[in-house]
This record gives sequence, structure tokens and C-alpha cells, in this order.
Amino acid sequence: MKHLLGLEDLSADEITRILNDAEGFVGVGVGTIPKRDDLKGKVVANLFFEPSTRTRVSFGLAARRLGAETLDFSPGGSSTAKGETFIDTAKNIEAMGVNAMVIRHSSPGAPHVLTRHLLPHVHVVNAGDGAHEHPTQGLLDILTIRQRKRRVAGLTVGLVGDIAHSRVARSNIHGLTKLGAKVIVCGPTTLVPSEVAGLGVEITHDLDAILPRCDVLNLLRIQFERQRSGLFPSIREYRLLFGMDGDRMRRAKPDVLLLAPGPINRGVEITPDAADGPNSAILDQVTNGLAVRMAVLSLLCGEG
Ligand code: NCD
Repeated sequence: MKHLLGLEDLSADEITRILNDAEGFVGVGVGTIPKRDDLKGKVVANLFFEPSTRTRVSFGLAARRLGAETLDFSPGGSSTAKGETFIDTAKNIEAMGVNAMVIRHSSPGAPHVLTRHLLPHVHVVNAGDGAHEHPTQGLLDILTIRQRKRRVAGLTVGLVGDIAHSRVARSNIHGLTKLGAKVIVCGPTTLVPSEVAGLGVEITHDLDAILPRCDVLNLLRIQFERQRSGLFPSIREYRLLFGMDGDRMRRAKPDVLLLAPGPINRGVEITPDAADGPNSAILDQVTNGLAVRMAVLSLLCGEG
């Protein structure tokens, strides 16, 4: 594997390989488990043209725990403000001698474009491109499901919320269906594009109807920054119809697993009692994200 651009491009075996590798990276560099030197002498550049907390910090930490040097770019305070293009920015950072570029950008396909402009030895990792894909988020979601449920095949996973604008939804759909899970997408009619039916998922607009069937619910944030206005009447109505709360928890399977990629909007897609309760694996997802990113960086540019 040269780049990681999306889970759509990977086979079930390739996804399983990354998940298995990631299990071996959980806890590396923490407490008594030593750091590793898979990326010794390598430089990993983080180019984040959109805001990020978890993804950005964990790619940096993952690279350093594998012995790499890291550099961080964000457009604020950079020459982007003077009109420098995205490709020129990337090529100038490349000229400092980097081995991998982790890129987040609001334009779908930006990481794919980069692969055509960079030197052949530079690996590109998509850390979220517009509403298209966010492959490491999909992988860490699936790893968390596998850890908690001991399997993926045969499970029913509900993706709830703003499917239209969610790259997390698309990466989850590709990864989960390849590994044999049943995926139900659920959200307001204006936020569930009909073409997702072509990706092998069931579509519903009624969360209450699917609650008793779901083993996992992945609660997605409404991507206000990517929306035209007026796609749903109000946050209050959204919360009433699609918010996960104590009442819906009582009607869900007792062992339903709650995931959310973060950032969560408490009281909108999920209430604090559900987010912080025993069924929630939201912070496990963050821990697993580090392991998944170590596995991906090691696979792409490690010596092993
Ligand atoms: C997601 C993203 O940026 O796509 N967050 C993340 O990476 N953890 C989801 C979101 O912003 O809602």
C-alpha cells in the first residue's frame, strides 16, 4: 500500500490487516510499553487546512511514538493568506524532506490530487477530504466495534445524522459493509442522499423504528459548515427526532454500543447521560485512533 486515500479502495483483507496491526499498537509508548522505531529517521508532515482536535493530535503523537520527526502546518498565520496555492504549499513542505503527508482539506479529492504532484517516495494519508472520506476514522470506529463486540460481520450498525455531509459516514459504510456488517443510515430526508442506497445500505428516517435492531449506533454531528441553510427546521426538532437520550437508551438493545467521532454537540445528537454512560465507547475511539494511525504510518512508510 502506497497511500491511504479511502476505505472504498481497500479490500476486506487489507482492512482486517490494518485492524490487526492496530491491536498490536494499542498502548505503545504509554507506561511500561516502550516506544518503537518503525519510523526512525522519517519525517511526517501534518497539513490541516480544516480544524481538527483528535485527528491532528493523534497523527502527530502516533508518528512520534514510532520515532519519526513531525511538522505541523495550518493555514492560519501561513502564506496561504498571501495567495499561495494548496499544491505549492505542499510542494514547499515536501522540499524540506518529508516521507509522509497527512492531509485534511475541505475539498473532496484534495489528497488524491496531491499524490499526482508529490515525489514518488512520499506517502499521502487522507485525514478527511470534504464530505468524501475519512479512512482512519472509519478504521478506528470499526476497531472499537470489534473490540467491544468481538466481531463485525453480522452486526447491525446504525449511522445516524447528517449522512449527506459526513465523510465519516462514507468511510464507515465502505469499511463496515466490506467486513459483513449490515448498515442502516438514518437521518432527516434532506440529510440522507438517495444515492447512498447504491452503497448497499438500508435507509430510514425513523430512529425509533430501528432502535431495537441496532447493535451499534454511530451518532454523527450535523456538519453546519458544509450545509446550505434550511436543510432542517431547527436543532430542537432534530434533537427530538434523532437525538440519543435516556429514553431512547431504554428502548435500544441493552448492550447497544454508542459511538461518535467527535466533536460531540452535547444535547443535540447525544445527551450527556448517554455520551458518558456505560454503553458509550467515545473515548475508546480516541485511544484506538492513535493505534490505528500508528498502524497506518508503519504500514506505509515503516521499515518492517
Ligand atoms: C470528524 C471529521 O472531522 O470529519 N471528526 C473527527 O475527525 N474526529 C467528524 C466531525 O467533524 O463531525
